[in-house]
Amino acid sequence: MTTSTAQEGASEAAAIYPPPQRLVNPENGVKPWCSSMEEYETLYKESINEPTKFWTRVANELITWDKPFTRVSQGSLKDGDMAWFPDGQLNISYNCVDRWALQDPERVAFVYEADAPGEASKVTYGELLKQVCSLANVLTSFGLRKGDTVAIYMPMIPEAAVAMLACARLGLVHTVVFAGFSSSSLAERVADARARVVITADEGLRGGRPIRTKAIVDEALLTCPEVEKVLVFRRTGNEAVAFNPDRDVWWHEAIASQRPYCPPVSVSSEDPLFLLYTSGSTGKPKGVVHTTGGYLLGAAMTLKYVFDIHDGDVFCCTADIGWITGHTYVVYGPLALGSTSVIFESVPTFPDASRYWKLVEDHKITQFYTAPTAIRALRRHGDSYVTKHDLSSLRVIGSVGEPINPDAWTWYNNIVGGGKCAVVDTYWQTETGSHVITPLPGATPAKPGSATFPFFGVELAILDPQTGEELEGNDVSGVLAIKRPWPSMARTIAGDHKRFLETYLRPYPGYYFAGDGASRDADGYYWIRGRVDDVINVSGHRMSTAEVESALICHPAVAESAVVGAPDELTGQAICAFVTLKDGIEATDDVKVELVKEVRHRIGPIATPKTLILVDELPKTRSGKIIRRILRKVVAGEADTLGDLSTLSDPSILDVLISKVAAAL
Ligand code: WT7
Repeated sequence: MTTSTAQEGASEAAAIYPPPQRLVNPENGVKPWCSSMEEYETLYKESINEPTKFWTRVANELITWDKPFTRVSQGSLKDGDMAWFPDGQLNISYNCVDRWALQDPERVAFVYEADAPGEASKVTYGELLKQVCSLANVLTSFGLRKGDTVAIYMPMIPEAAVAMLACARLGLVHTVVFAGFSSSSLAERVADARARVVITADEGLRGGRPIRTKAIVDEALLTCPEVEKVLVFRRTGNEAVAFNPDRDVWWHEAIASQRPYCPPVSVSSEDPLFLLYTSGSTGKPKGVVHTTGGYLLGAAMTLKYVFDIHDGDVFCCTADIGWITGHTYVVYGPLALGSTSVIFESVPTFPDASRYWKLVEDHKITQFYTAPTAIRALRRHGDSYVTKHDLSSLRVIGSVGEPINPDAWTWYNNIVGGGKCAVVDTYWQTETGSHVITPLPGATPAKPGSATFPFFGVELAILDPQTGEELEGNDVSGVLAIKRPWPSMARTIAGDHKRFLETYLRPYPGYYFAGDGASRDADGYYWIRGRVDDVINVSGHRMSTAEVESALICHPAVAESAVVGAPDELTGQAICAFVTLKDGIEATDDVKVELVKEVRHRIGPIATPKTLILVDELPKTRSGKIIRRILRKVVAGEADTLGDLSTLSDPSILDVLISKVAAAL
């Protein structure tokens, strides 16, 4: 079903895939929310030219306000004081749960696909309301009040979402920490967020293997004396899991004595909903702050239009709730629309590479959303894992987290989508809260590898990185920026507004700076070119090179380290670490193994360096600054175009460096 104008793969800009006929002219009569480019353009123009009219309409259509807003927005990117619907009041858990539970308590909120195949269960909106209320009452009994912070460190189970919603019900701020992070990473986040309570589980299960979730919390809390209570959900029931009766409380015991109703606390649209830690250019992760009304609107509106959600749809996003994608598209977006969301606890290759596709068939999933790294990995296993399943329920399939190469896009479209689904390559970030560049399934002709056009209300710019000047017209490349505030954007960094301004708003005054390079092609399509800062993207997970370097430095054998991203076929980028050892320490394979362990221990398995190279000397300027640009070029196999080397203090180290890299990669 393609109208490619050139041989496949010949040129990235060549093939154009129009929206599938099945969506544009549906047999079941359900028209897409946006069904042509004209309609997209009309709505987009309205969102830019008549923002008050546009946002008033959608915010009243998608959100139930306790107190209606009279003002749509205020503040500017220049001043960093943006606020949306500032005098409006609402409660997110009411919007996500009560609205649907009151209307139709039997409607399914979550389909929970447990780690073990065949162990699926459902949570209706009626049940969800009771669970959220009971848990909210438990949190109140701990003495928590509006504005307090709760850390959540849990496996991918419905109770993780219940925990988030219970916090939201009381106006508590949650900070979910991905349960693959180590105890020291968890401790750092708990302390920075000043969390007083941690919600966790005894153990997790992934691919049949237990994860020592509670034990990691116990280790982390050795350095977090301010945490008063740990609420523990019993997931596996392993009796060997330690329990400290002075601090720990079993979830099932605590809720048993609580009333299953709790009135929602009405909060200001601008009250914080959550903090989510993400990596930046420095070693210290930043707690990105999202507020209530604008975030919920972004989540609901993007999901509705980008995945074209209608009544009865079953939406599945495979991201972990520890990442923004899990927040927005596993929990808040689907529930805000009263839809059904699949919570997937396992891994795509357990028990074999057909797990996702069996999931689609078993639950008649209508929209499926995953990352390019999973698509590339599953593709390697061969088409038969996909084609043996009935995937005819699918209408829209999405990709997120990193650029998707046209080859992987085409496989996803042809094999998973059967040529009959819309593929949406969605570009966004932890900081943007929801999609900012994305196709709309019934409207946008896709070009594989391009995230296509801006979402409603998002005004994009490509800037010259040196001068900061906006590059007008098409066929331009530079850094990606956004020209005006949008509802779901982050408002600040917890405890460090200065860092927020310096990272996003000061580099190019008047613009939000995304940190990615991008081009706009001759047809106005946007192509994301990857990070322009010291952030690398491994399997769609954002890692700061400085964070990995600080972990390496903790090891007593290490003198210096420099970390760069190396291109990797499967994971997009892979972590490549260069290390010099202290005098007298021998460069052995054992040392290398130990250093890799140090990083896994300090940060977690997602930060594991794929390559670690011990060198005598790092490339430096005469003033002693490491020149990472050279390392990046060498690992990318571009040692012949190293560029200006005049600042390099000792050019003689290059040959050794290049041969060591060649031997290691
Ligand atoms: C970075 C944000 C919120 C999405 C999950 C990751 C890269 C994300 C795409 C895409 C090209 C993408 C960017 C961005 N990225 N989506 N569709 N095409 N690149 O969120 O951890 O905040 O990372 O992921 O580099 O800046 P995140």
